[in-house]
Amino acid sequence: MDPNPIQTLADLERIALARVDKVTREYWVHGAGENITVRENASAFDRYRLRPRVLKDVSTIDMTTSVLPSTDASPALVANLPIGIAPSGWHKMAHVDGEAGTAAAAKAVGSVMGVSMGTIVGEAPRECCSPEAVRDAGGESVAFFQLYMFNDRILMADVLRRVEKAGYRAVLLTVDTPYVGKRISEIRNRPQLPNFLTTINFGTLLGTNHGPDEKEEKKKRIGSLHIDNSLVWEEIIPWLRATTSMQIWLKGISTAEDAALAVAHGADGIVVSNHGGRQLDLCVPTLDALPEIVAAVKGKVPVHLDGGVRRGEDVFRALALGADFVWVGRPALWGLAYDGQRGVELMLTILREELKLCMGLTGCASIKDISPACLRLVGSTAKL
Ligand SMILES: Cc1cc2nc3c(=O)[nH]c(=O)nc-3n(C[C@H](O)[C@H](O)[C@H](O)COP(=O)(O)O)c2cc1C
Repeated sequence: MDPNPIQTLADLERIALARVDKVTREYWVHGAGENITVRENASAFDRYRLRPRVLKDVSTIDMTTSVLPSTDASPALVANLPIGIAPSGWHKMAHVDGEAGTAAAAKAVGSVMGVSMGTIVGEAPRECCSPEAVRDAGGESVAFFQLYMFNDRILMADVLRRVEKAGYRAVLLTVDTPYVGKRISEIRNRPQLPNFLTTINFGTLLGTNHGPDEKEEKKKRIGSLHIDNSLVWEEIIPWLRATTSMQIWLKGISTAEDAALAVAHGADGIVVSNHGGRQLDLCVPTLDALPEIVAAVKGKVPVHLDGGVRRGEDVFRALALGADFVWVGRPALWGLAYDGQRGVELMLTILREELKLCMGLTGCASIKDISPACLRLVGSTAKL
C-alpha cells in the first residue's frame, strides 16, 4: 500500500488548497499588505538550528503540558501536546463539520482549541456552529473563547455570560485589531466572499421575540456596532474582570513593553501573535518577538505563541526560546478542508509525532528539558 501522501503540513497545505475555490484560498493564505509578515513568521524559525544531545534516556517522551490551572469549579487543563488550534473564523468554508469538527479533533488528540468569536456572528446558509455546539463537540479541549471587543458593552457582557455558561474557561481578548488590517485579496474578493463575511450579525444574540419597537431598536444597535478602538489597559482589563470570572488572556502581544503591561494589569496569560500576519505587515515575526517578551514576563504568567508554526521542529524551537505552548491557525483550516475532523486530527498527529521525534533526537525526554541550550543561531558559533 502506498504511504499516506500527507507526511508533512506542507503536503497538507498543497493538497487542501488545491481543493478549495480561489476566494477561500486567498482568504486563508494571504495576510495584510505584501504578506511579508506571513512569510517571515514561518521563515524566522529557520534561523535556529538544533543542538542534539546524546546518551540521554529518551525511551519515553512526555509531551504533556499544563494549559490552565485548576479552580474551585474545574480541574487543571492539561494537554497531551504543547500545541493548540488558534481561533479562526468560519470553519464551514472548509468543511461541513465546521468548528464542531475542529473541536472534536482537538478532543480526540488531547489538544486545545481557541474558538473564534465568528461562531457567534455567522449567518445561514453556511452558518457557524454556535459556541455551545463547539463546546459540546470538544468538551474540556474547548476552553478558550476569542473576543473582539465591540462598542456595545451590554452586548459584550451578554456574550461573556453566554460563553461562560457554556463552559468556556478563558477569554482570549484579541488586542491587535483596533482596525482591520489592509488585506488586499479580501478587498478585491469582497464581492465574491460569502455574505456572512460581509455583515456581522448579532441578531441571534439579541434575541428574536421582540415587538416592532424593539425590532427597530435592535436594528439600530446592530447597525452601529464596530470594534471598539478606544480600549486602554486601565479600563478594559478591570471591566472584563468585573464582568466575567473566566481567565483573561491577551492575544496579539508583540513587544516586551506590552507584555510587562499585561502582567502589571493582571492578565492571566498572553499569546505572542501578530494575527498570522493579517493585521500589520512588516511587523516583527512572532518568534523574534518571543525572547524579549519571555524576559519581560519573568515566568509570572504563561506565554503562548502563534504564527508560522508548520513543523514539530518549529514547536520545539518556540519552546526552546521560552514559549509555554504554541497555537496553529491556518493548518487547522487545511486539515478541515482535506478531510473534516479526521483531517484536523491528521494535522495535529503529524505535528505531535514530529515534535516527539525531535525531542528524542535532541535528548529531551520531557517539555521541561527543552531550553535555549538546544538551539544555535545560524551564523553564530555559540549556543544561545
Ligand atoms: C482565515 C483566518 C481567520 C482568522 N480569524 C481570527 C479570528 O476570528 N480571531 C482572531 O483572534 N484571530 C484570527 N485569526 C488569527 C489566528 O488566530 C492566528 O493568530 C494565526 O492564524 C496564527 O498564524 P498561522 O496561521 O501562521 O498559524 C485568523 C487567521 C486566519 C488565517
